[in-house]
Amino acid sequence: MNLHRHLKRLHLQSPQASALAHFYAQAFGMTCHEDRGVWFCTNEGREVLISEGQTGKLHYALFAIQDSGEWAAFTQQTQDLPEANLQAYPELPETALGFIDPDQNCMVFVPATDLVPTSSEPPVQSKSAPLPAAESQHFALRTQQLENMKRFYTEALGFTLSDVVKDDEGQLKACFVRGNEMHHTLALFGAPVSCFDHQSFETPSWLELKDWADHMGQLRVEIVWGVGRHGPGNDVFFMVRDPDGNLAEISSEIEICSDSRPVGQWRHEERTLNLWGKAIMRS
Ligand SMILES: [Fe+2]
Repeated sequence: MNLHRHLKRLHLQSPQASALAHFYAQAFGMTCHEDRGVWFCTNEGREVLISEGQTGKLHYALFAIQDSGEWAAFTQQTQDLPEANLQAYPELPETALGFIDPDQNCMVFVPATDLVPTSSEPPVQSKSAPLPAAESQHFALRTQQLENMKRFYTEALGFTLSDVVKDDEGQLKACFVRGNEMHHTLALFGAPVSCFDHQSFETPSWLELKDWADHMGQLRVEIVWGVGRHGPGNDVFFMVRDPDGNLAEISSEIEICSDSRPVGQWRHEERTLNLWGKAIMRS
């Protein structure tokens, strides 16, 4: 049975929070404002919050759980896990539950009915043409302890394993887990350094992805990877880099998984991460 939890927001740290916020606002078509040291970048379906801090460090990722029965099951499942202290985040509802992964990333879960939009401003549009829809859909982390992270997300938090990537010796190099019917909500990459890797905004189709690429071109924001098609997830994509060097992705056509989909197995090679050519390898 597929879960019904969706990524709604990423809260990133940055040593140049204002610059990062203005980049996301422009490049990904969001309004942005600052309140008590937090930059809020928002539009329908997508939210990026940014606070002063370290490059490549998440404050938290926020997931909304759609259904009250599923929320009850989640609280039951996680009742023995130590809870994170969320007092530093006044934008979160009181019902929010936070858990710290083995790399010290904070994952926050809220019932969807308690999730209040962080901005009441009307959605922003590009000056030249209306921007297509794009929703916060997944993100990725690099980790030095991939097996521990996989175990935490699948066993402790209950995400569903969609695909694994292994090298020729059978060592796990990446894995993709989902919180709903879409192939991955979170990708984990084995890497020499543990850090944030990228976030992705899902747009309805290939045509809208092209419009987003044209939008980046008008802004002179260089596409640094793609257009390509990932093996795991089968989504078409392109990626740009924000001023801190974090990757940010527009994706479309991501695989919709049935409840009974078996875990997919991939070889650790460039073609796995891009069926059409070159890949950014994390290890
Ligand atoms: Fe991605």
